[in-house]
Amino acid sequence: MSMYVAKINKDDVDTLLNLNDIIFNDQIKYSKEYIKKICEQRTGFIVYLDNVPAGYVFCDYHNNELIKKIVPTIMSIGVLEEYRRLGFGRTLLRSAIELFSEDIYLNVREKNPGAQDLYTSEGFVMIGKINKYYKLASGDEDAYVMVKFYEIDQALV
Ligand SMILES: CC(C)(COP(=O)(O)OP(=O)(O)OC[C@H]1O[C@@H](n2cnc3c(N)ncnc32)[C@H](O)[C@@H]1OP(=O)(O)O)[C@@H](O)C(=O)NCCC(=O)NCCS
Repeated sequence: MSMYVAKINKDDVDTLLNLNDIIFNDQIKYSKEYIKKICEQRTGFIVYLDNVPAGYVFCDYHNNELIKKIVPTIMSIGVLEEYRRLGFGRTLLRSAIELFSEDIYLNVREKNPGAQDLYTSEGFVMIGKINKYYKLASGDEDAYVMVKFYEIDQALV
């Protein structure tokens, strides 16, 4: 089995849309226009297993409702169910963190302890909550806002 991570490019629009649909069960969706923009600015990665796309991450400058500032943000990260707990999520997360020489933010569903564990183990800390941020079929859900503060040391490792 060979695993590799590649930066997204303009040819990855359909792959990203497809992975997002499957992983998030059509619940947290992005428009094709937005995904095109993300692919053109190349702020994301796809992980491949034996040349098959298994997961993705993408980032953008985004207005965070808690701190009311536009900040580097991990917008979406996901791994297909059959490839989870193999370290792909961590690899994608680390690739995303390295895109920015700044503090990096993300929002995570309150009821997603697995993802929260992953983020905490990579140095993210919770700084607050946005009520009813996610409008899901199962009902509204709060989001925790997490940040990984940029450390100069990181650049030296
Ligand atoms: C969250 C997600 C991206 C993690 O991907 P992954 O490839 O399984 O993650 P990894 O294998 O790199 O896991 C790294 C660590 O995260 C934690 N973790 C990941 N999934 C977990 C789970 N379901 N339960 C508990 N801990 C979990 C563990 O500490 C794990 O380390 P370990 O396997 O050595 O115990 C994946 O579960 C996923 O796509 N979920 C659906 C989409 C989603 O919720 N995305 C996040 C939205 S904010």
